[in-house]
Amino acid sequence: IKHIGIFTSGGDSPGMNAALHGAAKAALANGMRISGVSRGYEGMIDGDFISLNEKDLQRTVHKGGTILKTARSDRFRKEEGRKAALKNLEKKGIDALIAIGGDGTFRGMLAFSELCTLPFIGIPGTIDNDLAGTDYTLGFDTAVNTAIENIDKIRDTAESHNRVFLVEVMGRDSGYIAIHSGLGTGADGILIPESSEDFNRLLEKIRHYHSQEELIVIVSEGDELGVGPVASKIREVNPSVDLRISILGHVQRGGHPSAFDRMLGIRLGVASVKALLEGQKNVMAGIVNNSLTLTPFEKVVKQHQVDAELQELLTLFYLK
Ligand code: F6P
Repeated sequence: IKHIGIFTSGGDSPGMNAALHGAAKAALANGMRISGVSRGYEGMIDGDFISLNEKDLQRTVHKGGTILKTARSDRFRKEEGRKAALKNLEKKGIDALIAIGGDGTFRGMLAFSELCTLPFIGIPGTIDNDLAGTDYTLGFDTAVNTAIENIDKIRDTAESHNRVFLVEVMGRDSGYIAIHSGLGTGADGILIPESSEDFNRLLEKIRHYHSQEELIVIVSEGDELGVGPVASKIREVNPSVDLRISILGHVQRGGHPSAFDRMLGIRLGVASVKALLEGQKNVMAGIVNNSLTLTPFEKVVKQHQVDAELQELLTLFYLK
C-alpha cells in the first residue's frame, strides 16, 4: 500500500481528530502517503481531497468535531455515486481507505466493497456507542461527560423549584448515553429503547409525588414513547406536577475530547494502519477488554445491545 485515503463520515464525534493524527503518524512512519477526503462519501464523489500535514494534525488532537468535515451522503447510497467515488480514488492513486464513523459508514463500505477490491478499514466514531466489536466508540466518553455536566446543572435549578425534569439525551436506538449519564447523576428514572418496563414504575412514583423535592428522569431519544408523550402521561397521572423538559441535543456531540477519547483515537488510528499492513480488509479496529481487535463490518453493523451487566444495574436501581 502506497497511498491511504482517510475520511470521517456520519455524525462527528470528539476524538476523530486524534484518530486522524494516529493514522497519519503510523502511515508516514511506514513510508506511505495519506490524504484526507473532505465531507466523507460526499467529498469522495466530488473528488474533494485534502493533504494532511503531520504537524497540523498534532495541533488538533485536542479539538472536537472533525477537521475533515463530515456528511451523511444520500448520493453514495446509489451505485452511480459509488462509481463516481471510485473513479476519483483511482485518479488520486489511493489504494486503501480508512473510514471513521458509525454503522451507516460501515454499511457504505460494505456496499462499496462489491464494486472494488481496495482494502477498507473502519474506526468506530460515534457518540452512541452502538457498535459491536468495540467496548467503546470514539466520542462516547466525552458525550457522557457533557451530558453529566449539564444534568448536574439541571438538578440545581430543579432542586430549587421542586420540579420534575425530563432530560432527553442522544444515542439514536441505543440507551448507553442515557444509562451512563443517568446512573452518574443519580437520576430517578432512566427510559431507554432497550427496555420499556421502567415506565410503569416511574408513573407510580409520579402518582404519589408531592412536590417536596426534585425528580430527574433521563429519556433516551430512541425511547419508544419519546419525551413529549412521556410528559403527557406524567401530567395525566399527576396534574399537580411542575414539569419541565430539557433536550440536551447537539451539545453532546461537541467539545474537547476527554483524555480517554484522545487516547482511544490515537490507538485506533495507529491500529487501522497496522491492520492494512497486515493485509486486513473490511474490518473495524476496536478495543475489547483493553486489547486491540479487528471485527468484520458485517458483524459490526448488527444491532448492538446494552450489555447484561448494565441491564442488571438498571434493574437494581430502577425496578426493585
Ligand atoms: O449518531 C450520532 C447522533 O448524534 C445520534 O445520537 C443522533 O440521533 C443523530 O446523530 C443526530 O443526527 P444529526 O446531527 O444528523 O441530526
